[in-house]
Amino acid sequence: MSLFNVNPDTCNRDGLCVDECPVKIIMLADKKSLPVPVPGAEDLCVDCGHCVAVCPTGALSHRSMTPEQCLPVKENLLLDADQAEHFLRYRRSIRTYRKKPVEKDILSRLVGIASYAPSGHNVQPVCWRVVHDRDEVRRLTGLVVDWMRFLLQDNADFAKQMHMDMVVAGWDMGIDSVCRDVPHLIIAHGLQADPMAQSSCTIALTYLDLAAPSLGLGTCWAGFFHAATMLWPPLQEALNLPDGHACMGAMMVGYPKYKYKRMPVRNMPRITWV
Ligand SMILES: Cc1cc2nc3c(=O)[nH]c(=O)nc-3n(C[C@H](O)[C@H](O)[C@H](O)COP(=O)(O)O)c2cc1C
Repeated sequence: MSLFNVNPDTCNRDGLCVDECPVKIIMLADKKSLPVPVPGAEDLCVDCGHCVAVCPTGALSHRSMTPEQCLPVKENLLLDADQAEHFLRYRRSIRTYRKKPVEKDILSRLVGIASYAPSGHNVQPVCWRVVHDRDEVRRLTGLVVDWMRFLLQDNADFAKQMHMDMVVAGWDMGIDSVCRDVPHLIIAHGLQADPMAQSSCTIALTYLDLAAPSLGLGTCWAGFFHAATMLWPPLQEALNLPDGHACMGAMMVGYPKYKYKRMPVRNMPRITWV
């Protein structure tokens, strides 16, 4: 198959695919002709599918996706501004979880939704590690606490500034302030050498965080855990990510024990208009 095929019977020659192509590799020779790839387009295309998605008649079929594979936009499911604001303000960091494990198909759906997050050049570099086994979450969390014990010896000022003394004391008393006794951890990882990987993982985890409540799930960014993956070899060894990969963020995931009734206040945005 060439880069794309256009059905001459349904293409209305409106040039939308030409206008919307982010790398400008589609052209119409004139108003009557069908869109064609510019020379060398195969190598420049980022497979974003915008040409397929913008076509009102489904006339364009791309090497990476057909119109039939691309779900139609359902106008009735789009959020209005009030709904979008409510949806975004409703999300909370959840720190008290039910013991009940989350079914793997629900977590798969959650990761699937997060995989629609944007990435530079559409390279989609994010890989996922789902730590489903609760005991394994506990074991990994123990390694984070070991790192904190080490830091409290090695760089006590910094460790205390980060309240690690309290976290370790809590752990020794059976309180998990690192991963909050969560049943599952979802880790986003990617190639350390890939300059797009960190931002892509962060954005994908943000999608995951935002999507979770719609599946009845609670989440919380596992910041201590993430920091330890960057700095503590025993945790890196335990994770055993593929060669050259690093953990670029982690999320606690489980069923929340409580429901929030109000949405807390945040600072006013600091905006400079020019
Ligand atoms: C990058 C990042 C790391 C975080 N790490 C932790 C963490 O390790 N433990 C925790 O309990 N909360 C963590 N949080 C949650 C923040 O404390 C929380 O977002 C903030 O208090 C605002 O509350 P909200 O998310 O409910 O609006 C983290 C948040 C972010 C964005």
